[in-house]
Amino acid sequence: MYEISTKDLFLWIKDIKNTRKDIEDLYLLIDLLGGISKSDLFLLRINSEEKVPLKIDFQSLKQKWNDHTIHCKPIQYVCGSSYWRNFKFELTNDVLIPRVETEQIVEIATKIYAPEDKIIFADLGTGSGSIAISLAIENSNWKGLATDIDMNAIHIAKKNHKKISSESNINFFCGDWWQPLTHYAGMINLAISNPPYIPKNVYEGLPPSVIDFEPKKALYGGEDGLSHIKQIISDAPKFLLEGGWLILENHFDQSKKIKNLLREYGFVSLKTINDSFGIGRFTIGRYK
Ligand SMILES: C[S@@+](CC[C@H](N)C(=O)[O-])C[C@H]1O[C@@H](n2cnc3c(N)ncnc32)[C@H](O)[C@@H]1O
Repeated sequence: MYEISTKDLFLWIKDIKNTRKDIEDLYLLIDLLGGISKSDLFLLRINSEEKVPLKIDFQSLKQKWNDHTIHCKPIQYVCGSSYWRNFKFELTNDVLIPRVETEQIVEIATKIYAPEDKIIFADLGTGSGSIAISLAIENSNWKGLATDIDMNAIHIAKKNHKKISSESNINFFCGDWWQPLTHYAGMINLAISNPPYIPKNVYEGLPPSVIDFEPKKALYGGEDGLSHIKQIISDAPKFLLEGGWLILENHFDQSKKIKNLLREYGFVSLKTINDSFGIGRFTIGRYK
C-alpha cells in the first residue's frame, strides 16, 4: 500500500478539472486503481492535510491517466475493470465495456420470471458475462447458459463468474449464437441478447475511443445492423420452449423491424421498451 497527501491528490484533480471534461473518468480511475471511491474523496476534503492510503503509487496513477488522455483509451480498459449494477467486472479489450443502459435487461427479465421460478435462461453473446452473472446471482433458482463466439471473451466471463459468484449456476460455451446449445433445444425459457447491432454507416463514424479499442465483433451488425439479430430470431424457435421469451437490445431505430421479424417467426406479445433516455432500446416477444 502507498500513501499520498490529500493536498497533492486534490491539486492534481483540480488541474485536470480545469482542462478536461471527463472528470468522472478520473474519479473512476482513482476508485478502481487507487482504491479511493468518489464518496470517500468528498469526505477527505473536510480534512485536507492528512495522508491517505493509495493502492498504486502516485506516479503510476498519473501515467495511467496519461494513457487514457493521450491515446483516448477508455478508462475501463486502462483499469482493466468496471462497475456494472452492483458488481465489479474484470475487462480486457476482448470484451465490450458493459454499458449502463444494458443494466435494464436484468429488470426486464425479472419482471417476466420470478426469482423462485425454476427456469433455464440463455445469454447469447455474453462478453464479460455481466448479464448472465447478474441474473444468476439475483435469481438463485435460474440456470444460466452463456455463449460467445470469442474464446477470450469466454475466459473473461468465466473468470468474472468465479470471482463474483462461483455459487451461481452458469455454464459457458464458445460458439455461434445458439449453436453450442443443441442439448438444450426446446428447453430454454428465456433468451437474452445484447448482440452487435451497429449499422455500417454508424460504425464508421464512431469515435476513436470505441473504434480503436472495443472489439468490432461486439459492435458491428452488418450493413443495416440487423444481421446478427436476424440469425438469433430465426433460430430461436428451435431452442425456446413454447411460452418462452426473447429479450433483445437494439439500436434506437430498429425495434419496428425487429418486431416484424419476431412476428414472422411465431412470436407474440411483442413490445418495445424504452431505456432511461426514452429510446426504444429493447424489443421483447413470447414464442407462441
Ligand atoms: C454488444 S456485445 C455484448 C456483450 C455483453 N453481453 C454486454 O452486454 O456487455 C456482443 C457480444 O456478442 C459476441 N458475438 C459476436 N458475434 C457472435 C456470434 N456469432 N455468436 C456468439 N456471440 C457473438 C461478441 O463477441 C460480444 O461479446
